[in-house]
Amino acid sequence: MITFDNVSKQYDNNQIAVKALNVEIKKGEFFVIIGPSGCGKTTLLKMINRLIPLTAGTIWINDKRISDYNIHELRWSIGYVLQQIALFPHMTIEENIAVVPELKKWSKTKIHQRVDELLALVGLEPAKYRQRKPKELSGGEQQRVGVVRALAADPEIILMDEPFSALDPISRTKLQDDLLEMQRTIQKTIVFVSHDMQEALKLGDRLCIMKDGEIVQIGTPQQLLQNPVNDFVQQFIGGKQSDQLFTIHDVLQPITVTNDFGHTIPIDAPFPTILEKLAEHDLLGVEENGKLIGMVTRASTLRYLAADSKKRGHVHGG
Ligand SMILES: Nc1ncnc2c1ncn2[C@@H]1O[C@H](COP(=O)(O)OP(=O)(O)O)[C@@H](O)[C@H]1O
Ligand SMILES: [Mg+2]
Repeated sequence: MITFDNVSKQYDNNQIAVKALNVEIKKGEFFVIIGPSGCGKTTLLKMINRLIPLTAGTIWINDKRISDYNIHELRWSIGYVLQQIALFPHMTIEENIAVVPELKKWSKTKIHQRVDELLALVGLEPAKYRQRKPKELSGGEQQRVGVVRALAADPEIILMDEPFSALDPISRTKLQDDLLEMQRTIQKTIVFVSHDMQEALKLGDRLCIMKDGEIVQIGTPQQLLQNPVNDFVQQFIGGKQSDQLFTIHDVLQPITVTNDFGHTIPIDAPFPTILEKLAEHDLLGVEENGKLIGMVTRASTLRYLAADSKKRGHVHGG
């Protein structure tokens, strides 16, 4: 789908941002590029829609060189979501979403329907939000609009450059969940830049870990957790050993307790081995049917235990 063939970028100041990079991103894949600040993530992303010209090498989209596409055709077939919420402030939400469909000369009726469909997709009631200006929305709501605006003309590819990093943790988690849910139905090819490993592991079908303009390792979350190629990857993931993957059944163990009225009630309690493992590792992966479905951190487990013991009150364990 998107192929990088020996792609390099050297800026005018001789800064080499991307070095002879080779990677193939598959159709329908959620591909996450992750690495420390300055490692070349944004440069890599912006070369795909020709916002930044390459110094050497070739990028192919669907077996056609990006340089052979008409620039408008290329840009309109690629959605783009930025970190800073970049809605046009003087335009309504509907007008913001309609930018590319307007450029593509869709009919008014079709655009109107599409806007409603997209707002509904991210849980923003169309009648309520269509005519509002961006400043009348919260940060999380604005970024939802940013995401669906990129989807408006039904592009095959969506580029997202740290789209949720400016949001508060609760909105961020919610938008990540929504994006995953959306991807289940839309099945776009998504190239997503992140510097947050937990976000990357949660979202990505595959992760590409970069350092100093080069790829250090590409793999599924499981592969990276199980076989990090070097200390850099290991440290980035936050683990020390490879036994960091568990199924949900390992993590939560159904146990029953008897309350003061003599009723037996089932609760989920963290499995004791998990607590031992969390003493060794900061982060554990939880998988189901071979797909990583979540991460458990020491902090979240401690919070869970605290909340759970409060909930149980005078219930005595059994
Ligand atoms: N327009 C530019 N001119 C010169 N150097 C740049 C420019 N844009 C980025 N760089 C440099 O290229 C490197 C990669 O930048 P960037 O792709 O933005 O990294 P990231 O998105 O991973 O933080 C950095 O060292 C950065 O300073
Ligand atoms: Mg960047």
